[in-house]
Amino acid sequence: MEHNLNKKELALIEKLREKYKHTDDELANNLEGLLHYQGLHYWDYIQLDALISLQHPKTDFDDETIFIVYHQITELYFKLIMHELEIFSSPQRKEYLEINNWIKRIGRVINYFDKITDSFNIMLPGEKYNPDQFFDKIEFSKFRLALMPASGFQTVSIRKIEMMSTSLHHLLVKERRHELKNETNLHTLYENLYWKKGGRIHGVYDHQNNLKKTRTLENFEKKYDTELLQFAEKYLNRNLWYLFFQHAEEELEQIREDEKIRVLLRDYDQKVNKVWKGNHLVSIMKQMSTEEYGTGGTNWREYLPPAKQDISYYPELNL
Ligand code: HEM
Repeated sequence: MEHNLNKKELALIEKLREKYKHTDDELANNLEGLLHYQGLHYWDYIQLDALISLQHPKTDFDDETIFIVYHQITELYFKLIMHELEIFSSPQRKEYLEINNWIKRIGRVINYFDKITDSFNIMLPGEKYNPDQFFDKIEFSKFRLALMPASGFQTVSIRKIEMMSTSLHHLLVKERRHELKNETNLHTLYENLYWKKGGRIHGVYDHQNNLKKTRTLENFEKKYDTELLQFAEKYLNRNLWYLFFQHAEEELEQIREDEKIRVLLRDYDQKVNKVWKGNHLVSIMKQMSTEEYGTGGTNWREYLPPAKQDISYYPELNL
């Protein structure tokens, strides 16, 4: 039989014959399926209809849509960051044994944090010379009351990124860091994380004479405590800090000595704990200058300033 197939097409047919050899007509049926296949469309692949129908403002203020979409954009970047850290630290893949993977994966994570830091001006109020460019302060001051007690405080992604990046000991509330430095009980460590102590109402005490928890924190704990404790356990021996400082594999000795990796880790630490958090705080100061409590009910002036949290993923590198 004569045919006009070129060499490449023939080789592909051979491969397909090999792949679809389960039954006599498997290849023919699959080729016929290909004949009727309409091709993939962008809108299906990206799930565009689903994606752009995920915004449901709770009020009639126009700018609430900006607030929702920007949080969603940030969550997607958080997803990309976790994707990198999950692959990098996988005990099956052991990517962390190769220096280039440190550069590639942590480089990407830093790049993603840069993006959400640079774009934080979307959440800033308009400037005098261009009042309509940014996010409306008056509208925000009104619609935020319809969102209570929901708050960015309740994003579990940032809590996971922290646990993937460093040891729980480095995430403790400043006042107990020294006292708990040799503590190994995960539950005790978890209960003393800085944000757990931050999500409180200053000046108001519960029955045990602890600062009273905000409803935002209570709701968050109800939804995520079990999941986060399991997550903390999973990352106990595979977070970036552990891999860099503790993991006992010979190949890591050389990586630990490499100044490039030290600079990269320091840069990452700085970008999250100073720059991203700093820009977040600037937005809050401009949007909520006269508000004592955040939408989540915390005394944000006490809890949020990076200098007061004093969190560093890799304090050993800053010495
Ligand atoms: C105008 C914009 C924003 C304002 C006014 C704002 C306000 C606040 C306030 C007041 C808090 C303290 C908790 C509370 O009492 O509510 C907080 C916490 C937080 N917000 Fe925002 N926020 C804004 C944008 C964002 C965005 C876009 C994200 C990204 C998901 C975000 C993530 C967080 C996180 C992770 C915390 C906890 C911080 C920590 O534990 O260090 N916020 N925010």
